Amino acid sequence: MTRATKFLAAMLLALPAIVCAQKNSTPVIAIETDATGLYLVVDELCLKQSHYGARVADPGQFLQVRDMARDAYPVYGSGNPNELALAITHGNGNVTTMLAYKSHRSWDDPSDGNIKWTEITLEDTAYPVTVLLTYKAFACENVIQTMASVVSRQQRITINSIASCYLNLKSSAYYLSRLYGAPGFESNLLSERMSEGIKVFDSKRGVRNSHYDNQSFMIALENPAGELTGEVVGGALCWTGNFRMSYQVDVMHNCYVWAGINPYQAGYVLLEGGRFDTPWMALTYSPSGKGEITRNFHDWGRKYMLNEPQRIRPVALNSWEGVGMDFDQKTILEMIDRAADLGAEVFVLDDGWFGNKYPRNDERNGLGDWDINKKKLPDGFTKFIERARARGIMFGIWIEPEMVNPSQLAEKHPDWIVKAPDRPPLMHLSRQRSQQILDLSNPRVQDFVFDVFDGILKQNPEIGYVKWDANRYAPDHGSQYLPPDMQGNLWIDYVKGLYSVYERIVKKYPHTIIQLCSSGGGRVDWGAMGYHHEFWPSDNTDALQRVYTQWGINHFFPAMATSAHISQVPNHTTSGVTPLKFRIDVAMSGRLGVELQPRDMTPEELKTISSAIAQYKTIREVIQLGDLYRLTSPYEDNFASMVYVSKDRSQAVAFCFVTKYSPAQDYPVIRFSGLDPNRTYAISEINPGKSNGSPSVGKSFTGDFLMKNGIRTTFWRACESAVFRLNAK
Ligand code: DGJ
Repeated sequence: MTRATKFLAAMLLALPAIVCAQKNSTPVIAIETDATGLYLVVDELCLKQSHYGARVADPGQFLQVRDMARDAYPVYGSGNPNELALAITHGNGNVTTMLAYKSHRSWDDPSDGNIKWTEITLEDTAYPVTVLLTYKAFACENVIQTMASVVSRQQRITINSIASCYLNLKSSAYYLSRLYGAPGFESNLLSERMSEGIKVFDSKRGVRNSHYDNQSFMIALENPAGELTGEVVGGALCWTGNFRMSYQVDVMHNCYVWAGINPYQAGYVLLEGGRFDTPWMALTYSPSGKGEITRNFHDWGRKYMLNEPQRIRPVALNSWEGVGMDFDQKTILEMIDRAADLGAEVFVLDDGWFGNKYPRNDERNGLGDWDINKKKLPDGFTKFIERARARGIMFGIWIEPEMVNPSQLAEKHPDWIVKAPDRPPLMHLSRQRSQQILDLSNPRVQDFVFDVFDGILKQNPEIGYVKWDANRYAPDHGSQYLPPDMQGNLWIDYVKGLYSVYERIVKKYPHTIIQLCSSGGGRVDWGAMGYHHEFWPSDNTDALQRVYTQWGINHFFPAMATSAHISQVPNHTTSGVTPLKFRIDVAMSGRLGVELQPRDMTPEELKTISSAIAQYKTIREVIQLGDLYRLTSPYEDNFASMVYVSKDRSQAVAFCFVTKYSPAQDYPVIRFSGLDPNRTYAISEINPGKSNGSPSVGKSFTGDFLMKNGIRTTFWRACESAVFRLNAK
């Protein structure tokens, strides 16, 4: 069942209790999880938000303090002077909207007792326009998803701006933590106190949207939060297109959070009788620090979002940094053999395998022609699949099916390409790789993109892994499919078109591992992640930068989805040189993989990598399915440390990475979290260096002692590291 049909089935099957509007007689609308609650009240037919945060014992009392509640979904025309959730131009040109509460209903999800739905219906007081606010509460994970829908029953309207979520917070101070960066420098963590005024983080890049600002945040209330202390609200917008997150703090210290599709150049024309659904926003709350926000997102994502969430992710060897597009059949066959020798479980043939009339020998040609390059690979994939099968590993490939550059496809279908009319395409921009974007608002293009995936998989059903890339951003646009007066719909319909293609693919190929990539981490959001197994966080595989990138992105996304590959030095992106042990240890803290040409490595290095892969296989269940506790932040100290703890707290794996030389030559101390205080843990070391990473290796301590005192390491120089395993007796 697709997600959309599941939603409809849930609506039809359930027998919701519908409460209709009567002046000020509506009960509190309580949207609750095990420990959190979002409470709404109706005041003079106006929907107001009373509270979001810890669940309260008796929500009925919110009715007595309706005057404290604030507009839950303010619209332009209602008199609210702040950031507004919705602005519509009606058919007759009226730019104001007035929404009155009409009814609400709540029902248990018929197929999952952990989920409860709530839908609130608001009606415009003058026009046949309905706004639905839908909430999906996940009890155990303490996550609430919110979205809005507009139904225009009789007239064509333009939606000028529409939030997925509008949140009112009340505190004396707010501390925002978010991710920022650039291609090759993704997911750096920034924390700042929010001053009065409006801060906006957004993307206007069309298809690659998370390189710079990410659509996820944490807001600590009152004081900066620690990992285990402080009240924190977390949010993640599930949208792969242009987004806008804004945070407005007024002089009375109210904070209004707006999250949704970026309205920039995107007035959306909704035809008569049409319905517009925003993407979901996922919210969570923790009374005890940022770590719990992370664990809530990880638990929710691993249970409800990722493809095959409980499947342990295999170790991959990807060809990109090793051979680029410069390979032939013999090279790849040998790489498959060597990948298997190392213990990798999937070999991924990256870019460069396709195109005949326009061979893909560099980035300037070939996208669009997904036929195997006969000159490079005379036997197609057949020999690779046979060899992989013989060696007991999977074979995987790279595709970039939304894009086109000189190709037979471009000759045949210039009308499928996104391009502003009467102007040459913007090809001169740097990092655009001479390529353009196919117009996924067009259903024929959606079919083409689906057919690329389906065609390859139908011919080669043993392909077990597909890396899906997208390497161009879009600073201009024009759809040759949409009518001239609906051009604002493009980037929204594009993403919806992309999701519908993903949906078809995942339904047909649920067990094909799909990696989300977009020039590295250009698409790391929970919208796209809902159709993938894992993501490629950055093309920067320099282990030193990866400590920061993975630290940042793992605030919201779990290690099992975070592809982290051991690469060669000098590093492909930074030219940095780090020790092999450090590169291995950093990669082990995510979904371990390898990104190099084994032929270029010494026998000694290959032995070290293969031994590390074997050891990773013994601990990866804890890393991929366990709870992450961050211990020391590389932003605050000269080293990073973290521990993954199995759900039953019987096992843990701790990592320590020195990022800067410590002038005091002081050994980093790992003080643990998340262990069972009453159990005794034996400490061993994974992938040890020449000497033990800690004098405590080989000894046993109680969880209580490890969390109060900790253990010390034996190093202080940059790029030294250790991985410890803790086993409860
Ligand atoms: C960008 C990706 O991030 C890389 O890993 C690689 O797949 C290249 N594209 C291939 O063109």
